[in-house]
Amino acid sequence: MIYRLKRWSAALLLGMFLSLLSILQCFAAGTVSQVNLHIGQTPDAVYLTYSAPDAAQGAFSVTGPKGTVDYAANPVWSDSAGKYLYSAKVDGLAPDSNYTYNIAGSYSGTFKTPAETGAFTFAFLTDTQIGFEADAKATGAMFSLLNSRDDLSFAYIAGDMTDSSRNERQWEMLFENGGVNAGAGQTFFGSHLIAAAQGNHDNSSFSGHITAPCANSGVGPVVYAFDYSNVKFVILNMNTPDTWAAQADFLRREAADAKNNGKWLVAGFHQSLYSGAAHIVDSGIISARKFWSPLFAELGVDLVLQGHDHVYARGFVTSTGSNANLTAENNTCHVVSGIPLYITGGHSGAVKWYAARNYQISTGDPLTPNYSFLDVNSAAPAQNPWGTDTSKTHEQSYILINVDGDTMTISTYMFRYDGISDKMATPPYLYDCLTISR
Ligand SMILES: [Fe+2]
Repeated sequence: MIYRLKRWSAALLLGMFLSLLSILQCFAAGTVSQVNLHIGQTPDAVYLTYSAPDAAQGAFSVTGPKGTVDYAANPVWSDSAGKYLYSAKVDGLAPDSNYTYNIAGSYSGTFKTPAETGAFTFAFLTDTQIGFEADAKATGAMFSLLNSRDDLSFAYIAGDMTDSSRNERQWEMLFENGGVNAGAGQTFFGSHLIAAAQGNHDNSSFSGHITAPCANSGVGPVVYAFDYSNVKFVILNMNTPDTWAAQADFLRREAADAKNNGKWLVAGFHQSLYSGAAHIVDSGIISARKFWSPLFAELGVDLVLQGHDHVYARGFVTSTGSNANLTAENNTCHVVSGIPLYITGGHSGAVKWYAARNYQISTGDPLTPNYSFLDVNSAAPAQNPWGTDTSKTHEQSYILINVDGDTMTISTYMFRYDGISDKMATPPYLYDCLTISR
């Protein structure tokens, strides 16, 4: 009898252990996170990236106008993240089509592939640079504002996603923001395509959390191009000067393609060549400006979308660094080939701001004094449309760019979110608006 009880107890314990294991597996299956979708170089492809605590979460399905297709993402164990990171290229997609996807039965989302024609609006974000919880909460407020819109085709993010790309907690806070907008980041990333640039705070692979396409082995990571309707976007990487020559060749080919097909040409990267704050004469920025500014002018780049300086600034800048002084009629400027519009997109989350500074111009640097190359600079009262109103400082920003044929309207929204108290101190307002036409 005692022997039988012992056997029964052992069987019960084994059963309980297996049940617990099953429960843990079910729990693990529910913890797919950090889901994001990166735009591909052609409209038939996107890159899905996510994380999970185990190696059995690679199966996902994508459903669209051609039916449902099953995929398998390879799990890659990350010691630094303490989890598996999954990435897969989703291809064979139809342009301008709505898709749903399901990851391992535990996460579902939607996305829409790039359109080949028609008007569209995209968001220009930069420098969420999440280091602490206050940064994450402010970023969550920004994502919450964007989630309330239904007109965004994709988001271009000009780098510095987190403060330290090898800090897993910071990556977690990019998606799960904490505070009153806790899930806003994941809601946004799970339902919009993104196009990312690599900032100086991001490593070359975003530590496996974002998968960006690569044009070819010579240009280095996170250098790619894609067309959205009548706009060609070329994303460059300023972090590695030894690849700039190869990147320039890539840009030349893409620029020729854009011009041959009558498309707008937009360049995007992290470190601003022309901006309104402290980084303006950093040695690396001077080198980049000398190399790229004349090339952008030569190739007829229309618009340059930058970050890094945590300030909002814009100006039509000549190849020698002068303000082109274009006149606006009804708030519309006609673009001139050889004079790109440079925009530094403020910052979209981090509780960190830079100020304007006095600077000297070194020999051969295509730059002019006192930020005179800018038409708007949020860091300089003389160039700030809101003057010296000190309530209009230390704000976060997001920019919406509507493209409609031969016009682009750039609407810059500012708001101030106090990430400490988790409250909106200044609700979003239209800080700057400009239309460019061609
Ligand atoms: Fe930066």
